[in-house]
Amino acid sequence: PLTAAVNAQDHLVIGGCDVPELVQQFGSPLYILDESTLRTACRQYRQAFKRYYPGEALTVYASKAWSCLAVCAIATQEGLGIDVVSGGELHTALQAGAAAEQIYFHGNNKSLDELQMGLEAGCRIVVDNWYELRSLTQLTAQMNQTATILLRLTPGIECHTHEYIRTGHIDSKFGFDPEQLEPVFAYVSQQSGLRCIGLHAHIGSQIFELQPHQDLGAVMIQWFQQAIRHGLPITELDIGGGLGICYTEADDPPSIEAWVQTVARGIADACAAADLALPRLLCEPGRSLIGSACVTAYTVGSQKTVPGIRDYLAVDGGMSDNPRPITYQSSYRVLAADRMSAALSQTVTLAGKHCESGDVIIPSAALPELEAGAVVVVAATGAYNYSMASNYNRVPRPAAVLVNRGEAQLILRRETLADLVRQDCLPAALNPSKL
Ligand code: LLP
Repeated sequence: PLTAAVNAQDHLVIGGCDVPELVQQFGSPLYILDESTLRTACRQYRQAFKRYYPGEALTVYASKAWSCLAVCAIATQEGLGIDVVSGGELHTALQAGAAAEQIYFHGNNKSLDELQMGLEAGCRIVVDNWYELRSLTQLTAQMNQTATILLRLTPGIECHTHEYIRTGHIDSKFGFDPEQLEPVFAYVSQQSGLRCIGLHAHIGSQIFELQPHQDLGAVMIQWFQQAIRHGLPITELDIGGGLGICYTEADDPPSIEAWVQTVARGIADACAAADLALPRLLCEPGRSLIGSACVTAYTVGSQKTVPGIRDYLAVDGGMSDNPRPITYQSSYRVLAADRMSAALSQTVTLAGKHCESGDVIIPSAALPELEAGAVVVVAATGAYNYSMASNYNRVPRPAAVLVNRGEAQLILRRETLADLVRQDCLPAALNPSKL
C-alpha cells in the first residue's frame, strides 16, 4: 500500500522522494512516513463504515501506535477521533487540535492527575476498574462536573497473537470482569456525576482472523441490552482495534474493508434480531492505520563473517528505534534502498548497533552485496516503533519526515546530544568544573 517506486538511479522512492537523498538531507536513521498511505487507511475505515453500517460510526486512531503532533493532526483532519492512554498522549492530541468529545481516554491505571486532566479537557473517559470508578465519583463531586464515560469489559475472547499483546482473555489486567457487570451498572446508574454512554472492549493486536471480532460484537450486544435495562443513557459500542498488517510475504491479513464489513454486519444483524436501535459503533485501530505507512532508513556500517555460520551486517540503529523484534520476535522485511534491482546475492543477519546480542532486526535477510554507507530500509515500521523508542545506550531518537508528492517535511526533530543530557541534574559537588 506504500506509494513506493524505483527511479532511474535504482533508488527507492517513497511519497515521490528519493530515500537515499532523504537520508543525506535529514540524517540516519530516519523514519519516513508516507502521508497518502496514512490518509488512505483513515478513509478506508470511514468509507467502509459508511458502506456497511446503517447507523452512525466513528473510527478512533489508537495514538499509542505513534503519538506526535503531525500524526494526530492528520487523523483529526481525516475525521477520526483519538484514543489516548496517558496524560502525555492526551496533551499531544489536544495540542494537535483534536476535539475533546472525540478523544477517548483509556488505560488500566490512570492517575488522579490524569483523570482530572481528562475531566477538565472534557474528553470521554473509558473506565477500566472499580478504583477508577470511585476516583471519578469523588473527582466529579469535587469539581462539580459530570464525567462522560464508557466502561471497559474483558470479553473472555481468545485470539491467536503474541501473548504480550492479547488483552481480551479473562485473566487480562484490563477491564471489568463480565461477572461484575450487574454491580457496576447498578453503581454507575446511581452516580449523578457519571454519565455512562458506552461500552468498550479490545481483544488484542495484530489479529488476522475475523471470527474473534464477530464473536466480540455478539457478546457486546448482550451487555448493551443489560446496560439499557439498568436505565443507563447508553448509545455507543467501542469494539477496540486489533486488525493485523503485513510485515513479511508470509502475512496475509484481511483488508480494512473486510474487517469493517464483518464487524458492522455482525452488530447490525444482532441488533435486528434483538429489536434494538443501532448503537453508535466505534473502533480503535492503531497498527492498521499507520503501520504500513512508514519505513525506517538505516545506513550500513560494519560487517562480520562467522565462518560457516552467518554473516552479520550492522546498521546505525536497532532496538532503540524498533524494539519490536527483541520484545515480540516480530518479523520485518529489508530492502537495499540504493540498489533496488541488484541481485539478492547474500543472506545476512541484520543487526543493530546496541550493546546486546539480541539486538537483531532481522535474523535472516536476503540483500545484495552492500558496502558501508549503503542505505537500507526496514518496511512497515509505522506502528509501535517511534512510540516505543528509547534512548538505550544513550542513542538519540531518529528524526521523522512526512513525505508526499515529492516533498518531505520534518515532523520529529532528531534528538541531539544536548537533548540526551537535558534532564540530567548534577549535584554541585559532582560538577566537573569544580573537580
Ligand atoms: N485499543 C486499545 C484499548 C488498545 O489497547 C490497543 C492496543 C488498540 C486499541 C490498538 O490496537 P491495534 O489496532 O494497533 O492493534 N506494542 C505492541 C502492540 C500493543 C497494542 C496495545 N494496545 C506491538 O508492538 O505489537
